[in-house]
Amino acid sequence: MFEQLNATPPDPILSLMAQFRADPRQQKVDLGVGVYQDQRGATPVMAAVREAEAQLYAGETTKTYQGIAGNPAFGDAMIELLFADQRGQLPALVEQQRVRFISTPGGSGALRLGGELLRRANPAARLWVGTPTWPNHMPLLASTGLPMMEYNYLDGAGSGVDMVALSEALNSAAPGDVVLLHGCCHNPSGVDLTAEQWLAVVELCEQRRLLPFVDVAYQGLGVGLLEDSAPLRLLAERLPEFIVASSCSKNFGLYRERCGGLAIVAADRRATEMAANQAMVAARQIWSMPPAHGADIVATLLADRQLASDWRSELESVRQRIVAMRELLVARANGNRAGIDFSPILSQRGMFSFLGISPAQVVALREQFGVYMIDSTRINLAGINSTNIDHLSEALYQVLV
Ligand SMILES: Cc1ncc(COP(=O)(O)O)c(C=O)c1O
Repeated sequence: MFEQLNATPPDPILSLMAQFRADPRQQKVDLGVGVYQDQRGATPVMAAVREAEAQLYAGETTKTYQGIAGNPAFGDAMIELLFADQRGQLPALVEQQRVRFISTPGGSGALRLGGELLRRANPAARLWVGTPTWPNHMPLLASTGLPMMEYNYLDGAGSGVDMVALSEALNSAAPGDVVLLHGCCHNPSGVDLTAEQWLAVVELCEQRRLLPFVDVAYQGLGVGLLEDSAPLRLLAERLPEFIVASSCSKNFGLYRERCGGLAIVAADRRATEMAANQAMVAARQIWSMPPAHGADIVATLLADRQLASDWRSELESVRQRIVAMRELLVARANGNRAGIDFSPILSQRGMFSFLGISPAQVVALREQFGVYMIDSTRINLAGINSTNIDHLSEALYQVLV
């Protein structure tokens, strides 16, 4: 039977990773893979995560199922992380019991579950997605059966959001349609909506009765944990319903533990209950029970004042390293006389930006200099460090002049 299957094209990021690993050159630079790398090029376990994990092992007495929504302490902690303001105050919807959190296998699981829930709630709903976007958004969300509608996300210069296209899209969306938005640290461009633009989007969603589906995969890697979640507090204040797919892969470094969840906000307590119930029915049909280990680590860590504070500091140094690498790259690439202005990279946020060079230059960087990036020119700023910046900036100069 299986011989009838056709080969699928290889995932470009996975093949690039394989090519990078097989490259024997000493001086090679990986700007392709989407995980954080420290100054040494390693993706370490965060110290607070390691400590929480040790506590967890010491106190763990069972591996029995936790339930379809996962560990409730994880859910509560995630609601706090996503919605609390600088005084630790939660929006009214929490007291009104208008939010439920369902643990999922990573942010990808939350996206899938959100799509399933939306299709069940409104089979006519279409999902509006600004492109470019994270390459897996399209296949992952289309697999739920939601029709996908695309609009242009970036302006002509690629350094801001194309608000004309975004407004046109939302104005032509039908009531009950869904808008996918990156909560912060847009992947792949690093171009986020400004506070004013978020307000405009929320107003359009209000007027046209559209439901935002916010993907929060990089909270804490943009401007800070609180700043990066500001759009969620705006939504909580203004809109009756929205959903949030959150991931702990990047900000807790829990990639392989598959940790994240779907926060569901609905208009009243009963509707929230119904939505959570339907989402759990959907989860039961897909993976039944979510993985527990990563979620238990996060719950343990956030419940411990000292560990939570250690984690916040570590995450902040990760964020600052990425900002420093943005500055270093722009200083060196702008200073190398190649005549291209890379300064928009400075105002972009999170791990990624487009380098904005030609496809031939991408190939030349890879073949001649061992500098790897995906064809779209999206680069992971965390792939840069003080030992490879000289090589990278020389390679850029050679390829660009
Ligand atoms: C924008 C975006 N959303 C979701 C995810 C999914 O993350 P996870 O590994 O938690 O499934 C990623 C991962 O790279 C991402 O970049």
